Amino acid sequence: MNLDNKSLEVNNENYILSNNEDVLSSEIINKYLSENNNEFNINVYKTIDSTNTAIKELAVNGEREGTIIISEEQTGGRGRLGRKFHSPKGTGIYMSILLRPQISASISFLITIAAAVAVAEAIEAVSDKEAKIKWVNDIYCDNKKVCGILTEASFNFQSNTIDYAVLGIGINVIAPKEGFAKEIKDIATGIFEDYSHTSIHIRSKLIAKVLNLFWDYYKHIEDRSFLKSYKMRSLLINKEVTIFTNKIYEKATVLEIDDECRLKVKMEDGAIRFLSSGEVSIKL
Ligand code: BTN
Repeated sequence: MNLDNKSLEVNNENYILSNNEDVLSSEIINKYLSENNNEFNINVYKTIDSTNTAIKELAVNGEREGTIIISEEQTGGRGRLGRKFHSPKGTGIYMSILLRPQISASISFLITIAAAVAVAEAIEAVSDKEAKIKWVNDIYCDNKKVCGILTEASFNFQSNTIDYAVLGIGINVIAPKEGFAKEIKDIATGIFEDYSHTSIHIRSKLIAKVLNLFWDYYKHIEDRSFLKSYKMRSLLINKEVTIFTNKIYEKATVLEIDDECRLKVKMEDGAIRFLSSGEVSIKL
């Protein structure tokens, strides 16, 4: 991946705007970033396999923190647990950020938590929707998923540090014209119905808002200042859920999220368990 190869980049002049269209470009996104933020190097593509894969390649080749790839579509978008992330053209935000955090590997989970809070807060800032977080890191509006986050990292086990992390964020801004793919149509929604229900440059505004909020949290990640907002936005508290661990389904009630972002649940036999993200899949 060579960032000097601009042939793949979106060139604004090639677009003719219709009322219902939204265009992504680094120039427009930069316009909406906080004035004091010059730490990003934003690259916008028309199409790409996966922005996470592309950023990973750059990270291995020594690219700097703050390098970002955003694409109008992904042909091989990836989700958690090896799932596919549907990334149709023009309707979403598919973005990956290269991070080189100077923190212990044991608190790397905070990167995803901070990002989930930043996305939820950004959605509320640009829309009239309430954004909730389904543990660990799915963002929901109107009880349906509008955003998923996939963080991938390279750890140095000797020093217990992180060489690099790739923070991948996928947001359904509007529903695709042809509708959501059949595997996700019952659980996914867009933040807006279509672009005629949004202000101009809505995706650029949302991207900039996410980056501004996330960057502030990330720079002081050890303070965990975003935890309160994370807990407040939880979709699962007091809910009956089905937990899938070690190929077994069990029912439980969610009690709270602790400061390590583990889910405290009460099992049907009254036992209390603390779940961490890697070990369970949850169904409402
Ligand atoms: C999930 O819901 O399981 C996580 C989805 C993460 C999707 C984003 S889109 C940008 C980045 N590139 C990818 O291939 N995946 C992430």
